[in-house]
Amino acid sequence: MHQVNEKKIGDVILDMQSISLSFGGVKALTNISFNVKEHEIRSIIGPNGAGKSSMLNVINGVYTPQEGSIVFDNKNFDKMSPRRAAEMGIARTFQNLALFKGMSVLDNIMSGRNLRMKSGLLSQAFRIFGAEKEEIQHREYVENIIDFLEIQAYRKTPVGRLPYGLQKRVDLGRALAMEPRLLLLDEPMAGMNIEEKQDMSRFILDVNDEFGTTIVLIEHDMGVVMDISDRVVVLDYGKKIGDGTPAEVRTNEDVIRAYLGVEH
Ligand SMILES: Nc1ncnc2c1ncn2[C@@H]1O[C@H](COP(=O)(O)OP(=O)(O)O)[C@@H](O)[C@H]1O
Ligand SMILES: [Mg+2]
Repeated sequence: MHQVNEKKIGDVILDMQSISLSFGGVKALTNISFNVKEHEIRSIIGPNGAGKSSMLNVINGVYTPQEGSIVFDNKNFDKMSPRRAAEMGIARTFQNLALFKGMSVLDNIMSGRNLRMKSGLLSQAFRIFGAEKEEIQHREYVENIIDFLEIQAYRKTPVGRLPYGLQKRVDLGRALAMEPRLLLLDEPMAGMNIEEKQDMSRFILDVNDEFGTTIVLIEHDMGVVMDISDRVVVLDYGKKIGDGTPAEVRTNEDVIRAYLGVEH
């Protein structure tokens, strides 16, 4: 285990209750319930097509489930909207990167702060009514994230020119710029080599540890999942087949069966 300090897990911050979601005839999620506690790293695993990304899209309001409700911070939502989720402090990174490739690392991460900027676009444009001071504070925040993620050397580099592993790190930085209470990570290590995976694991643990950020992680690499997660939910064909600590999930018969012969 990487975690040295005994960490304090808090109360339930997110409670997904009996969520069902379908697309036409395809049932992506069937009656799924699970919760996430404050400060925990909660992973969602399962074979391709199991419904993992759909679940993240339900949490942050991109998809609206036909059934079920979402309780975030003790507030009940039948319907979450992306805007509302962002305002409540839910941020995410994407399975397929959604960065502005032509823009610098600094500007991409800065884009994550838009919601936090109080001055309107007009005053920002004219640098009036305190907008300049506010911009400086936001820049400082972003520079801190850049230091934290150890990407100072690339701050002016267009993101499209960076190796894939670093682009993923910038995507994490963009999400961190929102100062999230809940951070949703959709396969942050997909396509990475071993060294890049180790770096990303360490950054995820550090974010969790230093900022206390609650994390929901989708990841295929079982070694990573078992190593850094506090609890794991297992989905298969849109159904929940396991839920518990890494040790519990690893010995769950249904989980073993779902994974046998399946390539990850
Ligand atoms: N926007 C969509 N429209 C139609 N079907 C979708 C959509 N998003 C996901 N699905 C379907 O839902 C199921 C679960 O997909 P997904 O959540 O992406 O799984 P995972 O992330 O576990 O690989 C799949 O059958 C997929 O084809
Ligand atoms: Mg997915």
